[in-house]
Amino acid sequence: MHDLLTIGELSARSGAAPSALRYYERLGLIRSVRTSGNQRRYQRAELRRVAFIRISAQVGIPLGEIQAALAELPDARTPTKADWERVSRRWRDRLDEHIARLERVRDRLTGCIGCGCLSLDDCPLRNPNDVLADDGAGPRRLVSAE
Ligand code: FES
Repeated sequence: MHDLLTIGELSARSGAAPSALRYYERLGLIRSVRTSGNQRRYQRAELRRVAFIRISAQVGIPLGEIQAALAELPDARTPTKADWERVSRRWRDRLDEHIARLERVRDRLTGCIGCGCLSLDDCPLRNPNDVLADDGAGPRRLVSAE
């Protein structure tokens, strides 16, 4: 197993397109070294950074926050389990919130979700005259913490 990965190898193993990897690198989220021919090579530990970036983005964490979290990892050595725990801890509340939202979607999607359409039989009971519009935009029964 090679210690240093080409961008193609990093892409194949991480599932991120080479263009995405170059973009992450431009943002300073991942780092490479250059060969004498100016080709990128990545430490294998960068795979974990890419996975962290992609998973965080999938649960709706903005790139700026991911960038701030990764900036807390040590530069001079491969991050340890403790380093990753420290960085990941801040996502716990976000993930709990995300899970709760998904559970609301799962449990309520077939009933009135308070979107303002008033098209279902139970809308006049649960959202008469679209009173939930006063709470803000979107399907209020899904986005609020009811
Ligand atoms: S489902 Fe749209 S307001 Fe009830």
